[in-house]
Amino acid sequence: PAAAMAEDAILGYLATAEEIPDSGQFAVEHGLNHNDAVNVIKSLHGFRYIDAQDIKRENWVLTDEGKKYATEGSPEVQLFLAIPQEGSISKDELQKKLEPSVFKIGCSQAGKNKWVDMGKQVSRKVQHVEDKVKDLLIRVQNGEEIGKDDVTSLKARKLIVAQIWKGYSVRKGPNYAPKRKKVATDLTRENLQRADWKELEFKEYNFNAKGPPAEAGHLHPLLKARICKRSVVCGSHLQVKQQLKNIFLQMGFEEMPTNNFVESSFWNFDALFQPQQHPARDSHDTFFLEAPSTTRELPEYYVELVKRVHESGGYGSRGYMYDWKREEANKNLLRTHTTAVSTRMLYALAKQPFAPKRYFSIDRVFRNESVDRTHLAEFHQIEGLVCDRGLTLGDLIGVLNDFFSRLGMSKLRFKPAYNPYTEPSMEIFSYHEGLKKWVEIGNSGMFRPEMLLPMGFPEDVRVIAWGLSLERPTMILYGIDNIRDLFGHKVDLSLIKRNPICRIGID
Ligand code: PHE
Repeated sequence: PAAAMAEDAILGYLATAEEIPDSGQFAVEHGLNHNDAVNVIKSLHGFRYIDAQDIKRENWVLTDEGKKYATEGSPEVQLFLAIPQEGSISKDELQKKLEPSVFKIGCSQAGKNKWVDMGKQVSRKVQHVEDKVKDLLIRVQNGEEIGKDDVTSLKARKLIVAQIWKGYSVRKGPNYAPKRKKVATDLTRENLQRADWKELEFKEYNFNAKGPPAEAGHLHPLLKARICKRSVVCGSHLQVKQQLKNIFLQMGFEEMPTNNFVESSFWNFDALFQPQQHPARDSHDTFFLEAPSTTRELPEYYVELVKRVHESGGYGSRGYMYDWKREEANKNLLRTHTTAVSTRMLYALAKQPFAPKRYFSIDRVFRNESVDRTHLAEFHQIEGLVCDRGLTLGDLIGVLNDFFSRLGMSKLRFKPAYNPYTEPSMEIFSYHEGLKKWVEIGNSGMFRPEMLLPMGFPEDVRVIAWGLSLERPTMILYGIDNIRDLFGHKVDLSLIKRNPICRIGID
């Protein structure tokens, strides 16, 4: 109703008048709230009923202190009035009669004005005073103009402050009418029944308006990928895991069962010829289980062979020459790599008449890392291995080139590295076209005879293997520089929605 009143007033006024020069004045004269008037003016201007021009004025308004004096009187006058007409009052007595700030300011202003004699005893020097400050403040409050010098002094006393006042001057616009026409946005059933649609004016369609965002499900980057060009499954959307599985399967690999996150130290470390003093076996790096803290059973005969190879070697090796402890091997942990699974599989394989094998796995592993931009305490590992007679480092390089080029990474480099269970070992680097640099994407090697021979493999059997994290290539591909944005409880759901459908690899 307030807005309707303002609208009627403005359009009605313009029916006979050329211009409303000042919306502020207009509001006062017509008993309108200026804010209501401004809103109506903006809307009418938008529909070109009127043309509105901004006007700005610097206005003075009272501060809280100014408002107080406008009602209670200035401190100097309050002080003057507190002094008896005849005789004097002690300063202490006077102070008690007034608010501390009024007393303090009053003393200094009344002194300046030569209204009072200040000493131990205070007395009036003049008969009568006028409260000019209060009068000025009231005038400012009423929106009246006051003199320049008065403005300066009130401003200096922080009783008034400048405020920018915004309003409009208004004239008729090209669509001017004394009453706004209601335009219909929808054609309703009632319109049709009443047949009043013939008279209705409809709002024009805005074909540039954005429609509401389409709602749909979104796959998490770790679950989503699209491979094209040299790809296996062109143009289809697959989970990264599924896509990697397809690559492995096409290369003749079988999947290993990885459904055990809890592993014994024996299968995670000892069987891999990883010495018991190795720093990775510290609780700083590995999560050990409290309950059950130890494994129930291990293959005793094989354990004996593993113990022996650690302590004194054999098979052409000197071993590590330390006292191997069964208790250490019994400790349960959250597996730190899927190579623990590979080890169990190789052990089982070695018990059968030899046949070449290709195995792979993709699953979760756990490390007691301090969490930062690139490390989480749990991540996913992709692992592949080939077991056959007489394999060489050339075979490893060949299979890695084959595997990674199927992921779209065909420029590889290898760097000598160290793993307790592989010799030789190589870190794998891929050239990232986007980042224009070599990035480490995995680790690989040939399992040591100290690992394979106690299992019972024939002497000429070699196992080549590699491992990589699922998160790393995904981060590179999606340009995610903080792993916590990708995996874990801090993942931003809108990031998942915004992400383009992505694929592994490069064009
Ligand atoms: N287990 C290694 C890692 O966790 C990866 C690896 C697997 C290295 C197989 C060599 C051979 O980084």
